[in-house]
Parts: sequence; structure tokens; C-alpha cells
Amino acid sequence: MTHPLATLYRLLYDGVLSRLPEPTAVALGQTALRLLPLDRLPAFRVGDARLAVTLGGVRLPNPIILAAMYYDTRILERAMGLGFGAVTAKSITRNPRPGHPEPNLVRVRTAAGPGLVNCNGFANPGLEAFRAAIARLRHRVPLIVSVAGESVDDYVTLARELGAFGDLVEFNISSPNTKLVYAWSQRPDELRALMTAVAAATTKPLIVKISPDFADVNERHIIPAALEAGIGIVNYGNTRRVEEPRLSQGAGGLSGPEIFEATLANARRTRRVFGDRVQLIATGGVDTPDKALRLLDAGATALGYFTGFITQGPLLARRILDVLRARL
Ligand SMILES: Cc1cc2nc3c(=O)[nH]c(=O)nc-3n(C[C@H](O)[C@H](O)[C@H](O)COP(=O)(O)O)c2cc1C
Repeated sequence: MTHPLATLYRLLYDGVLSRLPEPTAVALGQTALRLLPLDRLPAFRVGDARLAVTLGGVRLPNPIILAAMYYDTRILERAMGLGFGAVTAKSITRNPRPGHPEPNLVRVRTAAGPGLVNCNGFANPGLEAFRAAIARLRHRVPLIVSVAGESVDDYVTLARELGAFGDLVEFNISSPNTKLVYAWSQRPDELRALMTAVAAATTKPLIVKISPDFADVNERHIIPAALEAGIGIVNYGNTRRVEEPRLSQGAGGLSGPEIFEATLANARRTRRVFGDRVQLIATGGVDTPDKALRLLDAGATALGYFTGFITQGPLLARRILDVLRARL
């Protein structure tokens, strides 16, 4: 039976949010998340120790992760009470960045369901301001800090400085909207040096977030190099680069159910090729409990999503948890 809160969100999304211009809908959604104490409602959570997983030695109460998108600490703290087993903060760069000009986010209706294409370009407050903000954040569930840079030195500094405040550190080499981050996958040798340096910069477990656009490079070069550097967690992956003339950059990253089948295939292959040498977070396209189960059954240790949080609402994690629990 559909939960009344899920039905309410569907009406709100279909009737209001999806009809507003994207920037208005984003602002409204984020304001609502900041202001409404949804995390106080027990309806969003399931406390069942049998659902816990361990990622890089860190215990997550369940395998559902909110993928990188938000840096506002009020939203991150709220999200920690909305059923997720861990919450990822937006990728932070050394200096503040305004991101790309609007339009930088558009909705798409694909055959698989509603998705997004963004060319956000890492709009974020930068290392200093974000470090000060997360220093006060209470970790109701583990916090994954995400870092993005243009040089080895950037990543090392960010991993060291933010690692102190996160439970795990994700380093993003896969967002398609800034050439310098996306290009790491095209320079696997430099990437090897980067991973070794980042691994030495923090004692926190590291996650490398890779792109679905470079499956071959990922599996031939990047994952083996990560393992050699002692990085045992792979987040596969980020958005898929697509042309999108409505965006200010003429292209962006596609997220949502259209990329799910690729996420599933990538997870399955990665588990087959690397066995239990990697812990795998599968991200991309989850918007139903069934898709979450399929990723876990394909060998994912945990799964991440962001677009499903927007299109299906904050109850999705709880719906997935119910199905996971019913299977135990
Ligand atoms: C507006 C927007 C901003 C994002 N920002 C980041 C980011 O800062 N760092 C990152 O690693 N991924 C970022 N992502 C990618 C998501 O974390 C996720 O990997 C991707 O959207 C695929 O998952 P989904 O289909 O569940 O959304 C962003 C996605 C969107 C839509």
C-alpha cells in the first residue's frame, strides 16, 4: 500500500514542483527542507540493526546513501534523519565557486521516467567556509565529505582539511561539468599519483567516485590504481555527460532512471572483475525500492541516489528500507 506521505509528495511534485521553473522549484524545495522538521517524524526511519553495513570500517545503519548535491548543513542534518544510512555533502573546492550561470538545471522526461540534466559546475562555499560550517554538524549517521580539485595539491589539501570532519572522504573525479575534474579519467597515469597522494593525506576511509562515461578506463586503470593506493571503496558513479541545448553550457550531466541500467551493468561487472577486493557504492538512477534491491543483488555494498530524492520525495529511503527488511 502506498504511504499517505508518499502520495502527498507525488501530488506536490506533479502538481506544483514539476510545473515551476527549475530555479524556483529548487529554491522552494531547499527552503522546505531547511524549515520543515521532517526528520523528527519517525515515519522516515527504520531502526533495524540487521540492515547495517560496514564501509571502510565505518558502520552505516543501512546501505542507502544520499548522493552528493547539498552543502547546506541544515539540509545535511535533516537528511541524516530521513532514513539514509549515510549522507554525502556536495563536492567542495579549495576556493568558493559560483558555479555555471543559469540555466544550469533542467528536467527531462525520459522513457524510463523523470530525470535531470545539470551543469552546476560546483557551486559551493569553498574549503574555509564549509569547514567552519561542518565543524558544528551533528552526525546522526556517517557524513561523507566530497572533494573536487584541479591539481594533486588541491585534492590533498581538501582531503586533509575536510577529512577531519567527515567519517569518510569521497574524491570526485567524475562530474562532467568542469573540464578539469572530468579530465582526470583521461589521464590515468596522473590519476595514479593523485590517488597515492590523497591516500597519504587522510586517515579516513577514501571513496573514489568514477564516471559511467569511462567504463573501460575505470576498470582497466582507475580501479586497479585505487586498490594499489589502498583505496578500497568505489562509487560508480556520477551523471552521464549529454548534450543539452537548454543549459548555459550546452551540455550537462544526466541523472535519474535513464542511467539506471548502466549503473546496474557497471556494478555487476565491477563485482565480477574485482571480487571482494572492492567495496562498491552503486549510484545512478535509483527511484524505486526494486532498483535499489537489484543493485544490492548485483553485488553493491551500498547504493546512492539524489534525483530520486527529488522526484519521489523524502519517503523513498523508508520505502526501500521496508522492502529490505521484508527480505531479511
Ligand atoms: C544538481 C546536481 C548536483 C550534483 N553535484 C554533485 C557534486 O557536487 N559532486 C558529485 O560527486 N556528484 C554530484 N552530483 C551527482 C549525484 O551525486 C549523483 O552521482 C548523480 O546524480 C547520479 O545519481 P542519481 O541518478 O540518483 O541522481 C550532482 C547531481 C545533481 C543533479
